[in-house]
Amino acid sequence: MQKFIWKEEYSVGVASIDEQHKNFFRITNDLIDLIERPDMAPEDCIAIARELEHYAVYHLTTEERYFHELSYPHTAEHIREHDHYRDKVRVLLAQLETNPEETKVLAEELANFSITWLSNHILLSDKKYSAFFERHGVH
Ligand SMILES: [Fe+2]
Repeated sequence: MQKFIWKEEYSVGVASIDEQHKNFFRITNDLIDLIERPDMAPEDCIAIARELEHYAVYHLTTEERYFHELSYPHTAEHIREHDHYRDKVRVLLAQLETNPEETKVLAEELANFSITWLSNHILLSDKKYSAFFERHGVH
């Protein structure tokens, strides 16, 4: 499976957010490493999937806190995109927890969805808040 490789074009110009995006991808890459191990155990996969969901929610909430605090103009549509990610991941996680025989397929879907969603979301939506965040002193 294709892992995520960080490139400068993914920077939103806010160091703390870039760091969170890198962690988000790092956990997804850890999940891919685990999926590819022949001795992969479903419980380990579920543990990383939970870590990914937990970290994703933490990261998306961080952005949303700034949106509210700073009255960011595109808050509603941006949060709708976050909701799409959170909803999908919640469903996949629940499926992983109840279908151990489908672990590999579901974990691959989770990893692929996370990489595709986050890459596109950074490039198309997060970058729109760069200048606004910078003006309001978010580092
Ligand atoms: Fe975002």
